[in-house]
Amino acid sequence: MTGIEILRDPLANKGTAFTLEERERLGLTGLLPARAETIDEQVGRVLANLRAKPSPIEKFVYLAALRDANETLFFRALIDNLEELLPLVYTPTVGQACLEWSRIWQRPRGLYLTPREHGRVREVLRRWPGRKVGVIVVTDGGRILGLGDLGANGMGIPIGKLALYTACAGVDPALCLPVMLDVGTDTEPVRDDPFYLGLRQPRLQQAQYDELIEEFVVAAQELFPGVLLQFEDFANVNAFRLLARYRDRLCTFNDDIQGTGAMALAGLYAAQRLTGMRLRDERLLFFGAGEANTGIATLAVAAMVEAGLTQAEARARCWFMDSRGLVVEGRAGLAAHKQPFAQEHAPIADLLAAVEAIRPTALIGASGAPGAFTEAVLAAMARHNRRPVIFALSNPTSKAECTAEQVYAATRGCAIFASGSPFALVTVEGRSCATGQANNSFIFPGLGLGVLAAGSTRVTDGMLFAAANALADQVSAEDLAVGRVFPRAFRMREVAAAVATAVAQVAYDRGLATRPLPPDLGAAIRASMYRADYAAPE
Ligand code: NAI
Repeated sequence: MTGIEILRDPLANKGTAFTLEERERLGLTGLLPARAETIDEQVGRVLANLRAKPSPIEKFVYLAALRDANETLFFRALIDNLEELLPLVYTPTVGQACLEWSRIWQRPRGLYLTPREHGRVREVLRRWPGRKVGVIVVTDGGRILGLGDLGANGMGIPIGKLALYTACAGVDPALCLPVMLDVGTDTEPVRDDPFYLGLRQPRLQQAQYDELIEEFVVAAQELFPGVLLQFEDFANVNAFRLLARYRDRLCTFNDDIQGTGAMALAGLYAAQRLTGMRLRDERLLFFGAGEANTGIATLAVAAMVEAGLTQAEARARCWFMDSRGLVVEGRAGLAAHKQPFAQEHAPIADLLAAVEAIRPTALIGASGAPGAFTEAVLAAMARHNRRPVIFALSNPTSKAECTAEQVYAATRGCAIFASGSPFALVTVEGRSCATGQANNSFIFPGLGLGVLAAGSTRVTDGMLFAAANALADQVSAEDLAVGRVFPRAFRMREVAAAVATAVAQVAYDRGLATRPLPPDLGAAIRASMYRADYAAPE
């Protein structure tokens, strides 16, 4: 490439950072303004422009355009300003971006597969220009965050998640492939939007759907051997089935189920440093019985069993409420993923009554039901526990079960609170109360980096435990002093390196690794992380 071609290629472009000597050599003289800048000066301009934008969605669009123009600069700005920029690139802003995807769409990124490509998925995958793919994040848009079935508008999620793989864990962006399986949408307002870019048809029937998924999975493995396949934001009905079908067959995980499980388990471990509880003694009340919460409970049960409880004893410590009340034995029409957690108990319809009856030590919301943790519920948690643990995991912010203000006011600052989307510091009775951001982004980027570093052939529960423990260990004494049970976002890369090292170690210990073990695994992983420096031009 020479001249204008270079400036139009987001991977090669450095914009005003080309030196005068490079400009001469590459035929760029005259195509750029006179001054040659450093990348830090460029980042300064990006931040100034970004801060001048009036709304998060406009900031999102600005950052997407920056990425299309100069990928290195986009990632450098993101990596150096994680705390400020992550909420714009990912949750909560990505939720709004998906709602408006067909309106804000400007340039293609990633691959789209539809039933029209059935029988030639391999041919389409082969069109991807990347020579090597390490991670694929794939969605069918079936359940985007807490926003429901958004069809092809859900493409914002794989793109955003992969940006986090790079920004948080230093996975080379050239190894990342976002995929949208556009199988239609059952959300009529999405389908009827005149700007909608996806297939305007109801979702595919299960048999054809499964065939398309199988064809995609097989083709991806053949074309990109050893690829890590992350399933993301599939609806319940498919997520559990596909995980069960593929987890022992290929290197795959479902982030909504397993990533969330590891993330929340880490939060519980960190909270136990404040409460003095042991996991096996907790009584966990899960509000919402979907992928997130059953994922957390499944991993918590496995951890309790490791700590010496029987499976039945461990399950007895996990209670569930969904939109139809307490999950109890004999309840009609109980979905398969809820059945292991059905308790022998009289039905209870309302959350406050359940808190009074069960007296949970921790209340974990992943329901997408905003405001469900009322003042009365939160106050009851505080009555039964010196330091009640309350997690409101639902994203985006508009879906959170309660806000930080509400939880700290109702519990007079004694709650240990974490939430899916960020909340500002709250002062109650002169005390600063921070909110830990309980976000999967503390787990999946490091998990992926560890899997890639070891060349692991599978993602196992052992890796999820290791990731949870490594994350909990990253919570500092200063964090705990203000009640924060997750690290601050600016430490994301350190956290990811620790998670990756723990995960890769499990792969080596269990004989799942295909790469030689380096003498210092942690150092090798840290050294391999992408830093967003401009490459010297060839
Ligand atoms: P899902 O759709 O699988 O499950 C939602 C569950 O909530 C269902 O069991 C449903 O019956 C229940 N529910 C809905 N309304 C309810 C109500 N009014 N009362 C009681 N239960 C109700 O969704 P999934 O994957 O479990 O996610 C749930 C939420 O958690 C979403 O908002 C998602 O964004 C968030 N989440 C956050 C993560 C994080 O990193 N913080 C990770 C994964 C999910």
